[in-house]
Amino acid sequence: MEVAILRTVEEMSRAAAREVAHVLNAKPNAVLGMATGSTPLGLYQELVRLHKRGELDFSHVTTFNLDEYVGLPINHPQSYHQFMHENFFRHVNIPPQNIHIPSGTTTNYAAFCAWYEDRIRQAGGIDVQILGIGSDGHIAFNEPGSSLNSRTRLKTLARQTIDDNARFFERREDVPIYAITMGVGTILEARKILLLANGPKKADAIAAAVEGPVTAMITASALQMHPYTRVYVDEAAASKLKMREYYDWIQEKKPGAPPA
Ligand code: PGA
Repeated sequence: MEVAILRTVEEMSRAAAREVAHVLNAKPNAVLGMATGSTPLGLYQELVRLHKRGELDFSHVTTFNLDEYVGLPINHPQSYHQFMHENFFRHVNIPPQNIHIPSGTTTNYAAFCAWYEDRIRQAGGIDVQILGIGSDGHIAFNEPGSSLNSRTRLKTLARQTIDDNARFFERREDVPIYAITMGVGTILEARKILLLANGPKKADAIAAAVEGPVTAMITASALQMHPYTRVYVDEAAASKLKMREYYDWIQEKKPGAPPA
């Protein structure tokens, strides 16, 4: 894991966007793993800005989203289909047939999940997976206790997640209780993983994920087993990291390092 601590959420978003852009420039038909939530919004805005300036082309890109609420139609304002369309897809040129988001309204979840996993494999696997982190340490909707080998499946959301996400809904009772989510095992197969977090509410989860033991109680801690995970955090989310001085030292010395 490499930890980059940026001064602000804007700098965090730009740094992560630069890394995605770097991959797309080297591999124009890259497969991107997309995340929803408030954390990646700045990253998406930056990618859109680069696209509008003619510096980033998405015409050969394929995407797979991490998760979707069960029971929300795709045009529901809080569905992740709608979120992705509004905040990213409608502003860039990804062919619609290359966009994949789990279905929250299928009649056969097991069959859908198996199909989703197959589609990821057929596309050649995910080149870069963008991730946020829940205040309970989840990645995607892999709540505490999720197997670290889990695959795409139906999950029951933790009360903490329902509380955290209630801010987007009119009433707490409107937050769906179930979701379909890529598993931790699915996520770990991505070639690169970018984990983003900002704000003081994420400080404990980030400290546990980066410096705590690998445990199903904090599914983000499984990223310690991944060969290429970059953690992009702002000052507030980094505030409980014990090894901070070393992370900063690595970033400072990076320009002088021999090419890897
Ligand atoms: P947030 O959600 O970006 O809205 O904080 C992150 C997550 O729950 O994974």
